[in-house]
Order: sequence, then structure tokens, then C-alpha cells
Amino acid sequence: MTPSDVKATLSFSDGSPSMDLPMFKGSIGPDVIDIRKLYAQTGKFTYDPGFLSTASCQSTITYIDGDKGELLYRGYPIEQLATNCDFLDTCYLLLYGELPNVQQQADFKKLVTTHTMVNEQMQFFLRGFRRDAHPMAVMTGLVGALSAFYHDSTDINNPKHREIAAIRLIAKMPTLVAMAYKYGIGQPYMYPKNSLSYSANFMRMMFATPCEEYEPNDVLVRAIDRIFILHADHEQNASTSTVRLCGSSGTNPFAAIAAGVACLWGPAHGGANEAALNMLEEIQRNGGVEKIGEFIKQVKDKNSNVKLMGFGHRVYKNYDPRAKLMRETCHEVLGALGLGNDPLFKLAMALEKIALEDEYFVARKLYPNVDFYSGIVQRAIGIPVSLFTAIFALARTVGWIAQLNEMIGDPEYKIGRPRQLYHGSPRRDVKPISQR
Ligand code: CMC
Repeated sequence: MTPSDVKATLSFSDGSPSMDLPMFKGSIGPDVIDIRKLYAQTGKFTYDPGFLSTASCQSTITYIDGDKGELLYRGYPIEQLATNCDFLDTCYLLLYGELPNVQQQADFKKLVTTHTMVNEQMQFFLRGFRRDAHPMAVMTGLVGALSAFYHDSTDINNPKHREIAAIRLIAKMPTLVAMAYKYGIGQPYMYPKNSLSYSANFMRMMFATPCEEYEPNDVLVRAIDRIFILHADHEQNASTSTVRLCGSSGTNPFAAIAAGVACLWGPAHGGANEAALNMLEEIQRNGGVEKIGEFIKQVKDKNSNVKLMGFGHRVYKNYDPRAKLMRETCHEVLGALGLGNDPLFKLAMALEKIALEDEYFVARKLYPNVDFYSGIVQRAIGIPVSLFTAIFALARTVGWIAQLNEMIGDPEYKIGRPRQLYHGSPRRDVKPISQR
């Protein structure tokens, strides 16, 4: 870490001695105040539930400038990656720090492709689930279960194990998501076909049946590949921090990624794409564009508990750059499928326009996030709403594993162990039950 010339001084109004705190500089973005010695020197903790002002780690992977609306993977703007690279290039970049050259690209594709199949026992494991189980319940189980099948890649302290676990996870997630989908609709699983690209292979495992030839549509394959790129990493969000915290105990990578899947499921995080589409469908059912005003009124009413899903972000206080790219993809996909007049897309654009002009959203800097349009794209592709978050998990797996491997490789890494401000009962004695 690069030390800053500036030092922070912490002083106390009760006369306790003040303390100088070192500061470190990032290559871009805010500097940090190093409070690691604070407790040892003052006997006090900092208090920051929700990590509003806390950098939980140092990282070289992803940078977000929330005010500008900028997202960089290893320094490259997301707009350039989404237009010039594919998902596997992005995976290589996130894992190894540089974009691949021609040879590295071919080798990496071959490596990932030769790990797409899952152990045949996996399908018997799947059979234990009800057919109507939520795909995220299934995914949490399946990803955790990988550790029972790949014993030669569970030692998180062995760099070779970490690398092969990363490749296995990236390669097998599409197979598992497609299996979860096929199981739910009662169709036979489609084995991966390694002559296809990563995303075309996923589309085939999802939508082909053994009864007919399947020709993936190029526009839809590009769209799904872009969804994967846009969701691949997002620095220290809730699920990534979960993966880091879980992995910090030394658990195996599959277990740590399963924890990330579980965290992602929540509607404030990965579940927002599902919630955003359900919200649009509900507005449409209740009268469509005409009813936007009424809906916005409910959103602004603090007692209603209604949120404009797909809007707002902890870090972005400007338009989420991923939402812009997703809106562009939405136009392309709906155009290619002859759905240019899709009422839900029209509703989403009208809702976005009204919200962006409304004082409530302007004052709070609430803009569309990636989930606002990704649901419309996925629905047009034919992906059921309940599978949206599983697709997000598939894409985010590379980010999770890159961040986990970065943490384990960091000589300063320690088990994550936050402290607390306790305000429960002080010590007291157990009374006999007759006196309680
Ligand atoms: N609709 C209405 N009001 C909102 C919304 C929204 N979507 N988001 C934030 N606000 C209000 C919030 O009520 C608060 O108002 P006030 O200051 O009057 O109390 C203010 O804006 C600040 O919000 P916050 O809840 O303190 O912000 P946060 O950083 O804790 O929450 C968030 C961020 C993403 C959880 C939140 O904006 C939200 O729930 N959005 C909807 C869910 C969503 O789209 N999530 C996807 C995030 S992007 C994908 C991902 O990374 O997972």
C-alpha cells in the first residue's frame, strides 16, 4: 500500500490522549485512514454498520466512481469491455489482471471448455429437490455440493487448487443453472457442447431438447454474453464481501461461493432484477403507463414500503454505466425478435423518464441500476423470471473467485472478525425457574 503524506489525528473531548492515524493512497479513489491499531491504543472500536465509510480490504480488481458513474475492471472501462471483448476475455482479465493475447485466449477457452461437464452424480442430488423449488435454493445447494465432488481443489492454501477451483466454478455454473431450469420444467438435461462459445453453449443447455437441432441466435447469444460481462464483478458488494468473509476462515472455495450465492438472492442485491420485472408486470396489469403517477406516489410514501426496484445504488449516485449498456442491449434484442413495441419496455422507459425528473429521486440521486433493464432482456430471451438471479450468480462467480483468490494471496489477510457495540444486559445471575 502507498502511504500518504497526510496523517489523520483522532482527539477526544474527555482529555484522553489523541492518536495519529496513518493514511494510505489508492491509485484512484478516496484515501483510507488506517485504524488497525485503534483498539490496541485507545481501547475503542469504530462503529459503521452497513460499511458506509469502511474499506474492508485492499484490491486491484474493480474500481467504481459512483459520482461519475464509472466502472473499471482492472482499469478498463466497462463500456470498452462490453463492446470489444467477450465474457471469457473478461474472466481472464479479472482472474489474471491482463486481457489475454491470441494464444492465451485460445488456451483459456480450451481450459474452461474442458471443465463444463459436472459429475454425473449431481443429477441425483438435484432430484432431491421439489420441481417447484426456487432456482436460487437449488443453486445454493448445488454450488456447495461441488466441494463433495472435487476433492482435489478444496485446499484454499494451495495456489494450484485455487486456480483449478476457479476454472471449475466458471465452467460449471452455466451447466448447473441450465440443469436447475431443466429440472424445474421436467425436461432432460442437455450436456454441454464444447464446440460452442461459452454463452452459446449456455443458451443451448437452456433451450435445446434432445428431439431437435438447436441453432443459437447470434443477437441473443451476444446479449447474454453482455449480461455476463456487466455482472462479472462489482468490487466489495454484499455477496463479494460474504465470499471474502466466508473464505477468510479457510473454508474451501466451493463453500465460499455458495455463501455468495445465498447472499445474492436477497431483493436488495441480486434479487432486484426479478423484483424489478415483477414490479413492471404489476404496474402493467393495473393500468400501465397511466398508473405510473400513482405508483410513484406510493414509492415516495415512507409508510408504504414500496420501492422503485432497479433504482438506487449504495455507490452510484449517477446513472449506473451498466444500465446504459443494458438499455442498448434491450433495444437490440427486442428489435431482433420483432418486439420493438414491447409494452413492458415502453413502460420501463416511461417510468425511468418520470422518476428522473421527480424531485424525490433527483434529491436522493436515485438513478436506474443494471437491474432495471436486465429483466426485460432476459424475459425476451425466454429466461423465466425466477431464474434471473441464478444468471446473475453465474456471471458474478468469476468476480467472487477472483476476489477470494486475491484475499488468500494477500500476506496481510486475516480471518474477518468484526466487533460490536454491545448494549444488552450487563452480567447477571440465573435465577431458579420459580423466581423468573
Ligand atoms: N425507491 C425509492 N426510494 C429509494 C430507493 C428506491 N429504489 N432507493 C433508495 N431510496 C431512498 C431511501 O428510502 C432513502 O430515502 P430517505 O433518505 O428519505 O430515507 C434514500 O433513498 C437513500 O437510500 P438508502 O436505502 O439509504 O440507500 P442504500 O445505499 O442503503 O440502498 C439500495 C441502496 C440498492 C439497497 C436501494 O437503493 C434499493 O433498495 N434499491 C432497490 C433495489 C435494487 O434495485 N437493488 C439493486 C442494486 S444494483 C444490483 C446489485 O449490485 O445487486
